[in-house]
Amino acid sequence: MRLEGKVAVITGGGSGIGRASALRFAAEGARVLVVDWSTRKSQAVVEAITGAGGEAAAFVANVRSAEACRDMIEAAVDRWGRLDVLFNNAGTTRVGQAPDLSEEDWDLVQETTLKSTWLGCKYAIPHMRRVGGGSIVNTASVEGLVGDRDSVAYCAAKAGVVNLTRCVAVDHAHENIRVNCVCPGVIATPAVVNWLMPEAEHQARMGRLHPLGRLGQAEEVAALALFLASDEASFITGAAVPVDGGLIAESGIGKP
Ligand SMILES: NC(=O)c1ccc[n+]([C@@H]2O[C@H](COP(=O)([O-])OP(=O)(O)OC[C@H]3O[C@@H](n4cnc5c(N)ncnc54)[C@H](O)[C@@H]3O)[C@@H](O)[C@H]2O)c1
Repeated sequence: MRLEGKVAVITGGGSGIGRASALRFAAEGARVLVVDWSTRKSQAVVEAITGAGGEAAAFVANVRSAEACRDMIEAAVDRWGRLDVLFNNAGTTRVGQAPDLSEEDWDLVQETTLKSTWLGCKYAIPHMRRVGGGSIVNTASVEGLVGDRDSVAYCAAKAGVVNLTRCVAVDHAHENIRVNCVCPGVIATPAVVNWLMPEAEHQARMGRLHPLGRLGQAEEVAALALFLASDEASFITGAAVPVDGGLIAESGIGKP
């Protein structure tokens, strides 16, 4: 029960990494606000949590909106009286190189992925300060640590998440607010298996790029997010932690 007595807000909580984290955080004792722009998905996660004896509520929000981010934080505090953990996890991608990307797609990726992370911090920190501290976990990506092909908007946004994490961590360390990010490799979430790479052979090829020889699972990212959110990570702040099966440990030079 690593999060017993704590209140957590998780964005993008209706699917994939956010869903697995909502289930895990609740199983570890947190009361969880499951934020997603899909009512159906967030409600289903809440039903799974409450069905297992946990406590959770759904909140429908588009995290691109400042008002929605403010309201989701207020909703958690109104309901449970405090905020201890924020998992800024929602994000999206658009494939494309610099000349081909539309301005609309660039803005969509930056706002959903990077601006939302800042907004979450902006509205959560005053409440964490009030209860004497807290933990913010952001979902970055290995693509926030290294560049990649056809991924200009996403790599830029996730690199922004990594350095925003460091800045917010150093600004608020004296208030006992820790801020870290997880950097997943390719994880077999609905976004990946239904949308980005629906063909099994593509998934297998992508899995083989990871030294551990497979794609990651959402639960493996949730386990890291849980650790960083919990008091067990009490001396860790400003960190960008890969959960990538060794993907960025290897340069690729030694491969034939
Ligand atoms: N799956 C991967 O391989 C991988 C790797 C690295 C990083 N990530 C990051 O992990 C995070 C979660 O991705 P996932 O793979 O679990 O995706 P997913 O599609 O399975 O889940 C994302 C959830 O976010 C919600 N969402 C999307 N835009 C939203 C918005 N504007 N407002 C509110 N909710 C919104 C969706 O409805 C969905 O429920 C993202 O930030 C993604 O960039 C994923």
